Amino acid sequence: MALISNLCIFVLVAHFAITVVCHERPHQTALFVFGDSIFDPGNNNYINTIASFQANYFPYGESFFKYPTGRNSNGRLIPDFIAEYANLPFIPPYFEIGKKHLVHGVNFASGGSGCLAETARGFVIDLQTQLKLFQSVTQLLRNKVGETESKQILSNAVYIFSTGSNDFFAPLLANSTFQYSDREYVQMIMGNLTSVLKGIYKEGGRKFVMLNLGPLGCLPLLRALNLQIGVTNGSCMEKATNLAKLFNSALPEMLKKLEKQLPGFKYTIFNFFKVIADSIHNPTKHGLKISETACCGTGPFRGIHSCGGKRQVKEYELCENVKDYLFFDSVHPSEQAYQRYTELLWNGTLDVVAPYNLKSFFELST
Ligand SMILES: *[C@@H]1O[C@H](CO)[C@@H](O)[C@H](O)[C@H]1NC(C)=O
Ligand SMILES: *[C@@H]1O[C@H](CO)[C@@H](O)[C@H](O)[C@H]1NC(C)=O
Ligand SMILES: *[C@@H]1O[C@H](CO)[C@@H](O)[C@H](O)[C@H]1NC(C)=O
Ligand SMILES: *[C@@H]1O[C@H](CO)[C@@H](O)[C@H](O)[C@H]1NC(C)=O
Repeated sequence: MALISNLCIFVLVAHFAITVVCHERPHQTALFVFGDSIFDPGNNNYINTIASFQANYFPYGESFFKYPTGRNSNGRLIPDFIAEYANLPFIPPYFEIGKKHLVHGVNFASGGSGCLAETARGFVIDLQTQLKLFQSVTQLLRNKVGETESKQILSNAVYIFSTGSNDFFAPLLANSTFQYSDREYVQMIMGNLTSVLKGIYKEGGRKFVMLNLGPLGCLPLLRALNLQIGVTNGSCMEKATNLAKLFNSALPEMLKKLEKQLPGFKYTIFNFFKVIADSIHNPTKHGLKISETACCGTGPFRGIHSCGGKRQVKEYELCENVKDYLFFDSVHPSEQAYQRYTELLWNGTLDVVAPYNLKSFFELST
């Protein structure tokens, strides 16, 4: 006879002895996702915002989901591929969580958001608010599975971030009149990012994965903008890429500090800059062909952010063979680029993901 009660099985042995067999229920490592449009699976469908920060219309989603989910690409994003590799279901957007999904994680990312609350204020779920939503989810989780088990889930979970790029549109567009020096601005960003990481740590989070910033100046949007300001040879906007580099050198410093301050804090960095720069210079090595022009958009490099025709500019072109393209629209990689990048993140070598690749980070016990 066996009675199943929570995690324990009471086994009646012979007529008088009861053996209690307790199992650690083998929980899969959960995935909590934060940040911007690189990761947003449709949270912005549920907020009051503008079409620039949404992708819930054709042709977004055309290659995989066959309907526009709100993902800023033709198909799956990095967190979707991670979920696949880690044998998790797709991690739901915060606004679509059914309670049964909680134990596998939640995605809080919001297109257009940055580390600073000022970035696109009023049109996005900023990172501090994403933290607040996460805190409410930890409460739901405790209610659902209890204190002990939720602690275990939260400390074992992986917390992944793509954030920072959008903060740099303010200094780029304001040019010489911007009120902060680049260094001051990056320090502000790091300060705000730090407080969010500490907030998650306080809830029990231990394993953090950060994407650094890609070569922003090589986005089709900024190549096209460069043309407008008179750089006519189609090169990347150096100023934008330099800001990304500044962020990327501050990021590991900040994380090392946190590692010293917070017992058990672990992190790994995915060198998004390197993999994107490399696939721009050498697309065929990554199974791609066209790395300067976007698949969907208007004008030079299809760099005007008009994909779908719901934003300011209503006409747009859509390429025929999206599989050839690194960029789906003027700022976002295509599904096939994301798949390639996620493979490198999952089991790549130390030059692209360090000190842990994601596969070993998932398995890391806390
Ligand atoms: C500087 O910013 C102003 C106003 O945003 C813009 O009109 C101008 O083109 C910018 N100049 C450069 C060189 O980027
Ligand atoms: C974000 O940074 C700004 C500028 O340094 C600061 O005033 C603000 O308090 C920070 N917010 C948080 C939550 O850390
Ligand atoms: C394009 O122009 C920029 C700025 O004038 C220059 O720095 C860059 O070297 C040029 N690139 C090519 C490929 O000619
Ligand atoms: C890396 O992971 C991907 C996705 O699971 C897999 O297709 C690929 O074979 C793996 N590569 C290596 C070298 O293990």
